[in-house]
Amino acid sequence: MEKIILDCDPGHDDAIAILLAAGDPRVELLAITTVAGNQTLPKVTRNALSVCAIAGIRVPVAAGVDRPLVEPQRVAEDIHGDSGLDGPALPPPAFELDGRHGVQVIVDTVMAHEPGTVTLVATGPLTNVALAMRLRPAIVERVKRVVVMGGAHTRGNTTPAAEFNIAVDPEAAEAVFRGAWEVTMVGLDLTHQALATDELHERVRAIGGEVSGFVLDVWEFFGETYRTVFGFRHPPIHDACCVAAVIDSAVFTTAKADVRVELRGEWTRGMTVVDFADVPAMRHGSSPGDFRTEVALELDWPRFADLVVGAIGRLSASA
Ligand code: BDR
Ligand code: CA
Repeated sequence: MEKIILDCDPGHDDAIAILLAAGDPRVELLAITTVAGNQTLPKVTRNALSVCAIAGIRVPVAAGVDRPLVEPQRVAEDIHGDSGLDGPALPPPAFELDGRHGVQVIVDTVMAHEPGTVTLVATGPLTNVALAMRLRPAIVERVKRVVVMGGAHTRGNTTPAAEFNIAVDPEAAEAVFRGAWEVTMVGLDLTHQALATDELHERVRAIGGEVSGFVLDVWEFFGETYRTVFGFRHPPIHDACCVAAVIDSAVFTTAKADVRVELRGEWTRGMTVVDFADVPAMRHGSSPGDFRTEVALELDWPRFADLVVGAIGRLSASA
């Protein structure tokens, strides 16, 4: 079983990531920590608790940082609505928040487990993760790896150059990519292949029950905003791709790269500049042997879809 901490900002696709983590027997979800991103911290935290209530998930949930390190706060109301998870009915929490700060929960949880056994999955801005690195530098060599939904090697979705999670807190992202740990970057080039298609809707509809109904409502709202804002036919289930990769490493291909976050560009702040190992000009000055980031490239959609449907089926059966 792969032990994970899910640091997130639910968020429609974060909600599916939570369900996938809780509904697949190959993952042990140790804790959920929340960070300001798609909406303010109180809203995304409340959403995390509602998702847990819907699916009968019982893990520590802790609120982390309520704003980026340097940037003014920015939310994605146009995509995720006023609550951060508009669309489905959101039940009241079934249990209390963990009393600790989310950053402390990340540190405590990593330190409480054997070295190399906990994967940090980050599907919001990287503020909590960056602060956890600073609060307890020892976590950097202790975690197994960090799987980040963020960035892109072609184009952004918040500016032409920058993806939302990185654009919200570029300094935090740079700290995480520069850390001496293995990072898997699951950027837009990958997640835009992970679409909630009509086929996926039908398979989830066939499961029936409350969890399935919740997921369909999530995709309906998310689908509408993705149609309106980006002209997508189906919404991308970005964040669930990170959990899918922990469950099954064959769900996407990767290439080794060095990733730097642009912090100074007038038009490119928050861009992930990806130096693939096979590019001869080493613009970042390090050699491919030192590259620590795996950048996700090509999704095996049927494999991904099976994981999502399987998890929803299991949660529905046990609800
Ligand atoms: C990322 O930004 C958020 O809106 C989503 O939850 C995802 O983590 C996609 O750019
Ligand atoms: Ca997210």
